[in-house]
Amino acid sequence: MKGPELCKVTDNRLIAGGMYKLRLEAPNVAGNARPGQFIHIKVPGDRSRLLRRPISIYDACHKKGYVEIVFQVVGEGTRLLSAVKTGDFLDVLGPLGNGFSVSGDTRHLFVVGGGCGAAPVKFAASRFNFTGRTCFIGFKSGDAAYDLQEFENSCDSLLIATEDGSIGYKGLITEVLEDELKRNLPDLMLACGPVPMMKAIQQMAEKYRVPCQLLLEERMGCGIGACMTCACAVRDDEDGFIYKRVCKDGPVFWSREVMLDEA
Ligand code: FES
Repeated sequence: MKGPELCKVTDNRLIAGGMYKLRLEAPNVAGNARPGQFIHIKVPGDRSRLLRRPISIYDACHKKGYVEIVFQVVGEGTRLLSAVKTGDFLDVLGPLGNGFSVSGDTRHLFVVGGGCGAAPVKFAASRFNFTGRTCFIGFKSGDAAYDLQEFENSCDSLLIATEDGSIGYKGLITEVLEDELKRNLPDLMLACGPVPMMKAIQQMAEKYRVPCQLLLEERMGCGIGACMTCACAVRDDEDGFIYKRVCKDGPVFWSREVMLDEA
């Protein structure tokens, strides 16, 4: 990682209800970005917090030198970020954190994402480019679903659930996942989404004995391991727990080690 740099915004558009996709000209970040990593952005005019905002990388193209993020407008900072225009510059730090780790002998991969959390797993599915990738994505409703064609192009099989049934299976994506796990066990699962979804996936990983990595999204201060704002509880070898930093030790952890109840 280099220090913060000013990156030009080349696109920022609404892609679903309250969800935006922002593209940055950021050759240094793009050249080093791995799925599961994030960038830390200083949002211009954001007086609600002095700190940067961590947002997972949705896509990165080394050749064209761009990075994309997807974010949901949930407060003042993200509202200001949604108003950023093409040609504006953002102060960006990254790529930060440790990404997903997929070994060369993985043949069958499940990636699971909910809402905004579908963004980093899409990047993983597209980057770990072997046949045998099944992508599970869940949204509250069809209005909140974004870039379905991109997801389709990034995997071999795409399964979608919405809570109101407006697209795909009616219910939770974890129900679809469990159905699939009963028939067909992958070598590895990668997941990101709301905490209840991650807890359900953690339990399934244990029940079906599938190795699983969870990407935690946490409030952050420095983003580089110096402040402990982002501490999360992780099991240690003696049945106790220790705190690790989501920004520096994560944001990706093995599901068997992370203690989501303590999060
Ligand atoms: Fe400062 Fe993680 S945000 S240590």
